[in-house]
Amino acid sequence: MIGDAQPLLNQRVVIVGGTSGMGMGAARAASQAGAEVIALGRRPSAKLSAEQSAHGSITFQSLDMTDDAAVEQAFETLGALDHLLITATPPSPGGTFLFQTMADAQAVLSGKFLGSWSCARHAAPKMRKGGSITFTTGGLVTRPRMGASMMMVAFAALEALTRALALELGPIRVNTIRPGVIDSEMWAGMPQTKREAFFALVRERFPAGRVGKVDDIGKAALFLMTNDFVTGAILEVSGGETLVSIE
Ligand SMILES: NC(=O)c1ccc[n+]([C@@H]2O[C@H](COP(=O)([O-])OP(=O)(O)OC[C@H]3O[C@@H](n4cnc5c(N)ncnc54)[C@H](OP(=O)(O)O)[C@@H]3O)[C@@H](O)[C@H]2O)c1
Repeated sequence: MIGDAQPLLNQRVVIVGGTSGMGMGAARAASQAGAEVIALGRRPSAKLSAEQSAHGSITFQSLDMTDDAAVEQAFETLGALDHLLITATPPSPGGTFLFQTMADAQAVLSGKFLGSWSCARHAAPKMRKGGSITFTTGGLVTRPRMGASMMMVAFAALEALTRALALELGPIRVNTIRPGVIDSEMWAGMPQTKREAFFALVRERFPAGRVGKVDDIGKAALFLMTNDFVTGAILEVSGGETLVSIE
């Protein structure tokens, strides 16, 4: 493939959360577009050797995005990059407001929000001309769900940070993908029958008539990396999730 078929040729893409799910979908898309992809996550990279050989230009490295010093060191070691995508959401306590402690609330913010902040903060100084940062949130940001108030707040804060950083970091572009329900490892913890019933409801209710695929997010990430007039945008890739109720 040459020319526009490989719009990321000679570019370096770092994906925090690239060891699974949407991040892995984006890693594949960026790799097919010609990029050198570095996929980061907590799991030891040695365990990923089979996947690594299946996706030639993707290399996996360990990183916990909640450890600011480790994030700083990782970007120092990686050196120059062109695009950063953060799909990871570190595990954190849920629970309804009246049963939450201050520590629970702080854990959500320091995981998703400040973890994403830390990656952007340490990557931005290393970005080459034409660089971009893409955060991810979720459809939850538009419609509260019982027990998920702080995650909704973390998503909303990230969407606000997107616009602030698009201004402060320009010409580095800063955008957010707001995914809907995407079939990924994230749902593996839900019992199979419950998950199948939920996905059936999604197919019935979502205007797009199907459950999202990680490759849908890969295509969106590629669009945001390659369209150099898009910044400060929240790109919803949700099959219409936020137009309907799935309660
Ligand atoms: N899938 C959906 O339907 C959906 C919809 C809307 C929003 N979202 C949001 O997007 C997030 C990611 O979804 P997904 O489908 O890609 O989930 P996934 O398949 O479970 O992938 C999560 C990724 O995050 C990484 N990660 C978790 N904690 C980390 C940490 N502390 N430091 C670095 N990496 C970390 C994981 O890698 P390691 O395990 O190697 O650390 C993994 O690569 C969700 O947790 C959710 O907040 C998902």
